Amino acid sequence: MSDSKDRSEDYSQPGRQPRKSDVIVGNSPWIKELFERIDMVAPTNIAVAISGESGTGKELVARTIHNLSKRRNAAFVVVNCAAITESLLEDELFGHVRGAFTDANRDRPGLFSEADGGTLFLDEIGEMSIGLQAKLLRVLQEQEFRRVGADKNTQVDIRLVTATNRNLHLDMTAGRFREDLFYRINVFPLPMMPLRERPEDIVLLAQHFLLKYRDRVGRRASGFTAEALDRLRTYEFPGNIRELENKVHQALVLVTDDFVGAQDLDLGDTWKQSSRRLDMDRPFRDLKREHIDSFEREYTLKLLRAHDGNVASAARQAGIDRKNLWAMAKRHNIALDKLREGKS
Ligand SMILES: Nc1ncnc2c1ncn2[C@@H]1O[C@H](COP(=O)(O)OP(=O)(O)OP(=O)(O)O)[C@@H](O)[C@H]1O
Ligand SMILES: [Mg+2]
Repeated sequence: MSDSKDRSEDYSQPGRQPRKSDVIVGNSPWIKELFERIDMVAPTNIAVAISGESGTGKELVARTIHNLSKRRNAAFVVVNCAAITESLLEDELFGHVRGAFTDANRDRPGLFSEADGGTLFLDEIGEMSIGLQAKLLRVLQEQEFRRVGADKNTQVDIRLVTATNRNLHLDMTAGRFREDLFYRINVFPLPMMPLRERPEDIVLLAQHFLLKYRDRVGRRASGFTAEALDRLRTYEFPGNIRELENKVHQALVLVTDDFVGAQDLDLGDTWKQSSRRLDMDRPFRDLKREHIDSFEREYTLKLLRAHDGNVASAARQAGIDRKNLWAMAKRHNIALDKLREGKS
């Protein structure tokens, strides 16, 4: 199996060509599984729900799903639900007819129309207001919508892909996200793994970004020193792949040698430090639960990795009940069989 998967080989049809930057790179067992899941779901019309921390590649995956689908010659429409107000978002999505309200000087077809036959990518869907969630649900159920001021509905054929860095399940139990919409969009969940939990991908990604930016920056650097690679492998990357990409880009500006050194990479104080940010606008109980959840996942994964997936010996070392450890592994989707086989 190749280390990186250049999805362009899958383009047998004429039409929109993938950009070079649409390539998903990695060789961890997790990313190989991601490739498989993308290949499985892309040709269908199933709604895909991508979740994960900032910078883990959610949009790249959404684009790849579109590029590998039969819809690839139609539009891939990106809507960031967090970026605009509720009423503007509604107008963006639904559009309006001329004269529908004072400022409506001309018809606006709306993004549902634009995505007709293609893919609608609703980014940060967790930020959508409850009112708009109800309207979206109706469009998904009926496959039709009505522009503001129009007297009849417009049919659309849309494949929906969503992304969120929130825990929508938690939002649902707290009443901030509609249960019916949750199940409608979560037909095929794709959780993205933080980079620190798949360090096997770091070196390959760093090399990928080196090649991507080298010419742009006008440098000849052909790789990294052993020390730089060591540093990269052990850094926590709170900003995930986007942070790695930025660090390599910046390092190329600084580098004077043929190899990028540890001193060129600005991995300073935050090295080995978990610096998950606290969003002070959110309720304490939610944050606490998320932090405990994320600690539990990281701990369980590290522990089981160190024991090659052997639950009994891992539980003994940690001083926890074997059944509890088993349940934690299951709750966090940790593939014990993979740990046992691959030690990776
Ligand atoms: N596996 C990968 N291989 C190559 N490049 C990647 C990979 N994953 C992410 N990237 C790159 O990292 C950057 C961040 O990815 P992307 O924008 O898809 O993340 P995101 O999860 O949508 O982030 P955010 O939550 O901040 O919106 C992009 O430039 C993307 O091309
Ligand atoms: Mg994104």
